Amino acid sequence: MLLPITYNASLKDLNTFGVPSEAWALVSVERWLQVAHAVALAEDANRPLLILGEGSNLLFRGDYPGLVLRIHNQGCQIVDERDGQVKIRVAAGERWHAVVMWAASEGLWGIENLALIPGMMGAAPMQNIGAYGAELAQVLTQLNCYDRAQKRWRTLTGEACRFGYRTSRFREADAERFVITECVLTLTRDGEPNLSYPGVQAELELLRQRAGTGADASVTPLEVARAVSSLRRKKLPSPEVVGNAGSFFKNPIVTEAHCESLKTDHPELPTYPAEPGHKKLSAAWMIEACGWRGKRRGDAGVSERHSLVLVNHGEATGQQIWHLAQEVARSVHDTFGVNLEPEPQLL
Ligand code: FAD
Ligand code: EPU
Repeated sequence: MLLPITYNASLKDLNTFGVPSEAWALVSVERWLQVAHAVALAEDANRPLLILGEGSNLLFRGDYPGLVLRIHNQGCQIVDERDGQVKIRVAAGERWHAVVMWAASEGLWGIENLALIPGMMGAAPMQNIGAYGAELAQVLTQLNCYDRAQKRWRTLTGEACRFGYRTSRFREADAERFVITECVLTLTRDGEPNLSYPGVQAELELLRQRAGTGADASVTPLEVARAVSSLRRKKLPSPEVVGNAGSFFKNPIVTEAHCESLKTDHPELPTYPAEPGHKKLSAAWMIEACGWRGKRRGDAGVSERHSLVLVNHGEATGQQIWHLAQEVARSVHDTFGVNLEPEPQLL
């Protein structure tokens, strides 16, 4: 099978940080059947392989010595419906936000709080995308993938993906093993809005007032998706305006004992529930407390709008952003004794 290959391909426009990088080769496929051929192409040439979605959760710190594969398969439809449970099958190449808006406009509940997260369907299971009180893990029941270790196509259940906060087996023990080509999400027709995350309820009410919606009209998934989108636009810098990859660090999880001692010295530090015996801390708050909000090192900077977001003000390289990230993490460690772990894949 002949695949169109571009050698020495620029990746600058293919990552939302907008940093320069060149790949040994770039291949785009439109059908999932072509994936195994593209994988073989990299392996035969003894080169590493990177599956690239919209490049909104990675940082190129230099050139990429391997083959970059983009999967553009399309398709998003209801495949099963019974007892109010609706299964949708989504191709890896579909844009995530478009899937959310389509499902919400069909009256389906389950992913409306994940509106406006950039990227493609195929990348979403990697870190179990999450926002505003929801996570992909709650709805992903199955995915289809090519297993590079066993050289065969497989179907994995949601449970087999071992999802956690901003993680899955695809980022841990099985990093680079699976190429995801399709996901099945189980949504529901009789859901309830989840407005628990600070700010969502107020944003929803604001939009309803503007639209003249009566207070007694029941809330729809589309309204929630629009409220979350509107809130996100207010809080986060858009990569179309300034290069970034969303949160650069995960919110760190520490033991309850560690959290209590931190709260003694810093009573305002926001904390969130985590697994038993642990608490999640606000990385944004700690970075801001260290004085980083809006700071720059040349064109690499910490966003003025949100201190957890590193930005490229123009001509920063991936290395410069990485140096800034290390400086930020060091200062948080020196002040709070807490390690910050990067969220995007570092290349
Ligand atoms: P890429 O960045 O291209 O790839 C990310 C990783 O997934 C890489 O390791 C890549 O190799 C792998 N990958 C991609 N496709 C496949 C595939 N088909 N098979 C196997 N591996 C694959 N994330 C959140 O969780 N919550 C948020 O609220 C959020 N907000 C964001 C806001 C902004 C402004 C930005 C820029 C990013 C945000 N992100 C958020 C991060 C990002 O949008 C998500 O992680 C998204 O899922 C990445 O999708 P992508 O297509 O850009 O993946
Ligand atoms: N805060 C500051 N300074 C700031 C921004 C925030 O001190 O500049 C503090 C405030 O106290 C605020 C708190 O941090 O109340 C939490 O802020 P926010 O609601 O923006 O959430 P976050 O913890 O910073 C996480 C995710 C986001 C996700 C939002 C909403 C991580 C690493 N990040 O951010 O995900 O959209 O919650 O659910 O978990 C991403 O992963 O790329 C991402 C953007």
